[in-house]
Amino acid sequence: MSELVVVSGRSNRLLADNVAASLGKRLGAVTIRNFSDGELWVKYEENIRGVDLFIIQSTQAPSDNLMELLILIDAARRASAKRITAVIPYFGYARQDRKDQPRVSITAKLIANLLTEAGADRVMSMDLHTPQLQGFFDIPFDHLYASTVFIKVLRSQNFENLAIASPDVGGIKTARSYAKKLDAGLVVVDKRRPAPNQAEIVNIIGEVENRDIIIVDDLIDTGTTFVNCAEGLKKAGARRVVGLCSHAVFSGSAVEKINQSEAVSKVFVTDTFRGDWKSDKIEVHSVADLFAEAILRTHDNSSISSLFES
Ligand code: R5P
Repeated sequence: MSELVVVSGRSNRLLADNVAASLGKRLGAVTIRNFSDGELWVKYEENIRGVDLFIIQSTQAPSDNLMELLILIDAARRASAKRITAVIPYFGYARQDRKDQPRVSITAKLIANLLTEAGADRVMSMDLHTPQLQGFFDIPFDHLYASTVFIKVLRSQNFENLAIASPDVGGIKTARSYAKKLDAGLVVVDKRRPAPNQAEIVNIIGEVENRDIIIVDDLIDTGTTFVNCAEGLKKAGARRVVGLCSHAVFSGSAVEKINQSEAVSKVFVTDTFRGDWKSDKIEVHSVADLFAEAILRTHDNSSISSLFES
């Protein structure tokens, strides 16, 4: 069997270090540099001929993160790695997944094409903006769920009369799955986006009064959706509002908005995203062990779906 080697780009080195530690390995030696004009240069410092290579790198902005991943894949292919898996904890550019207005790009598909063209044999990611994005790839795609980690955390909290809220219609399936696992009710917040990064609540569907509510979303970016939802739910009579999001993108003043909102009591996030923010309300739960286990199972050709069956 070929050797398992894990390397990392620079988008979230801490998570990659923790994945490697969980595997009981060190990260493979790679040098990544920028020329003075910013152009990227990558070199594998060890022989990777014939290895089963896992490259950990998320594709959030700036687009250098994506470029770094593509160059790492290209260099690995040219260095004769046997199999290359792009491990993308946070799949950035996924929100542009359809032509929702004329003359726009479908960036999620573009990135799928670029990864495949660069030489990726497989892709692994977590909580995609929409799961059907997997279909944009003609190579195997392993989709991991942060719920594997979150459910244990939520079960240890003392929620009363719990309901799970989806902040939009697209998130109902995920919210329902959490509701089922936690034996909770379901609430849907009907949201309108007058412009990108703006969110208006039109309607709340479901019973909210005197309930503890967990708003489940794949990501919090500017925090507008989440904080508006939390405030809408609180106004509608919710007892306590908690957030749960896989990818803590937290751009602009997101953390400030969360900290300042009296409607928000807590937010649980994973470490797919690295930020230097600080907040007493935000609790980070690592998905490093989950990625490590999925990498090991991919290497051993054993089932990944059984990871999510508990
Ligand atoms: C939207 O469909 C996503 O699931 C998130 O709700 C959204 O991207 C969050 O963005 P923001 O925090 O900027 O409102």
